[in-house]
Amino acid sequence: MFEHGFLGYDASFMLDFVVTALVAIVPVQLFSVYLVKYRHAFLLHRNLQIFLGITLLVAVTAFEVDMQWVHGGWKNIVNKNPESPRLTGETFAQVQMLLRIHLVFAISTPVLWAVTMGLALKRFPSPPVPGRHSKLHKTLGWLSVIDIVATSLTGLWFYYAAFIA
Ligand code: HEM
Repeated sequence: MFEHGFLGYDASFMLDFVVTALVAIVPVQLFSVYLVKYRHAFLLHRNLQIFLGITLLVAVTAFEVDMQWVHGGWKNIVNKNPESPRLTGETFAQVQMLLRIHLVFAISTPVLWAVTMGLALKRFPSPPVPGRHSKLHKTLGWLSVIDIVATSLTGLWFYYAAFIA
């Protein structure tokens, strides 16, 4: 399982783990926005966001350590058998382009999340209620939501192109 992952494709365990985490995070994130927007459950929203932030941080850090240090980069996972590489030529270039698109979202998301979270924790009272920070927070909050959803969708797209198609 650790050699090949658990989703049944020829990826690594940590790749499967991070893909699963990215998919699982999206409904929880949407639920958190629903709670704050329609239920005015501000405290629950804050706690869910902190939980999501920590989950993302742990998942992505473990993933990066495994990918960069243990495997020595994504190419070694995709083409782990140099005798018969999975991706070559044009297909390889297309998948590499998909990865670059994914990285735009994957790198901006933690930055945006840290700013959104940091400012919210500093500027909203505890327990949180709407106030002078609301306008900026809503803008940053929606941008963060869009960014994480885009990270998830482009990540899945990359995974599909690299390991399933
Ligand atoms: C990265 C983490 C977070 C994201 C992505 C996020 C996202 C959002 C979004 C999209 C909204 C607007 C919903 C709407 O359209 O009405 C919102 C509202 C709100 N959030 Fe967050 N949030 C985060 C963290 C936090 C934290 C840590 C707190 C508290 C310390 C907080 C407190 C609030 C409050 C009080 C509102 C309501 C603002 C109002 O209606 O005036 N959020 N959040």
